[in-house]
Amino acid sequence: MDTSKLRINGARLRASLEEMAKIGGTPAGGVQRLALSDEDRRARDLFVKWLKEIELDVSVDEMGCIFGRRAGRNASLTPVMSGSHVDSQPRGGRFDGILGVMGTLEVMRTLHENKVQTERPMIIVDWTNEEGSRFAPAMVASGVWAGALKRDWVYDRADKDGKKQGDELVRIGYKGSVPCQKWPTYAYYEFHIEQGPMLERQKMTIGAPKGILCLHWYDVYLEGEANQVGPTPMEGRHDALVAAAEMILAVRALPGRVGGNMVATVGEIQNGPNSRNIIPDKVHFTVDIRSWDDDHAIKAWEQLKAEFQQIAGRHGTPVRIEETWRVGHQPFNEKLVQRVLDTAGELGYSKLHMVSGAGHDASYMNQVCPTAMIFVPSIGGRSHVEVERTTWEDCEAGANVLLHCLLKTANEK
Ligand code: GLV
Ligand code: MN
Ligand code: MN
Repeated sequence: MDTSKLRINGARLRASLEEMAKIGGTPAGGVQRLALSDEDRRARDLFVKWLKEIELDVSVDEMGCIFGRRAGRNASLTPVMSGSHVDSQPRGGRFDGILGVMGTLEVMRTLHENKVQTERPMIIVDWTNEEGSRFAPAMVASGVWAGALKRDWVYDRADKDGKKQGDELVRIGYKGSVPCQKWPTYAYYEFHIEQGPMLERQKMTIGAPKGILCLHWYDVYLEGEANQVGPTPMEGRHDALVAAAEMILAVRALPGRVGGNMVATVGEIQNGPNSRNIIPDKVHFTVDIRSWDDDHAIKAWEQLKAEFQQIAGRHGTPVRIEETWRVGHQPFNEKLVQRVLDTAGELGYSKLHMVSGAGHDASYMNQVCPTAMIFVPSIGGRSHVEVERTTWEDCEAGANVLLHCLLKTANEK
């Protein structure tokens, strides 16, 4: 059959996204499906049911990744993969991750009902714990699969209640038996919302990132001296929270001070004992630094670390720093990126060559095989929040670009 006229079913894609948005749906219209929570399990169960309905060969690996394989005409050719994640941020959005999973499912459904055979096998994937907000770091399953992270280290990472990631995989019934290990892969695509303002500002429908910024995560622990706030004079205090406040301002000032392309954020903090009438003695906060230039980000971090030591010394609050995670910046495969741009043009959509500031499993997949992403606009540039939205038309457009990129790639011999 001539597949050039083939289009996905936008109404069915919308219905699947709306069905998924009910799982962990929040009153303000977002979703909360933290990695390996009961909500994550329910979304997985529904996903697996939908994969089986279109006769995909379903498997689950020891990191809980779910794969659905569609046979190609030639079983000896390496597969083309596409997917994203079903987990979300706390009070997160209803498009981040799930759009790429439901978009790929919609492509598979379209191929199934039209009895389209591709040369190469195609594999849809849901990667476990992309977000990294319950168990840090992020993108752990694609990281293990790609050989960049150690499986047992990831199993041992605990959430704030001390629950370990490996145990939670067992609890929700998704610790599979297939080794989490890369296999020869022809190409990987990930369809995602932009999560930033560029496409909307430039009135473009499809984004083709040339790559993803580096992601560097640090954990900072401060030790102060707790005491009664009333009788303790201001001089001579060792207030861990005040020291942390100075450090946080130093993080905020860092990109402006070092220049170049960089963002730096403190997004999470725990203060102990967290009582209004006790001087804080235990503080933990996180630092996230991103740039297209890995060396620049590392040099900036070294400066920041020295500043942290100096602040801690001044306050008499010893500081311990964990360099938790680093993923280098990833330039995507130029041929595949061009394919996304060309395909968008052929389908009549406006398109933008850009950069991804958000992290994606595509960062690790890019270390294994040729990789590219397809972005669609985020309304108001808002993401990781309950008001995160993308128009249904743009979801459909992105899924059509995905369909034709996948068809072209999966038909290469
Ligand atoms: C992933 O969601 C990120 O932190 O960019
Ligand atoms: Mn995502
Ligand atoms: Mn996210």
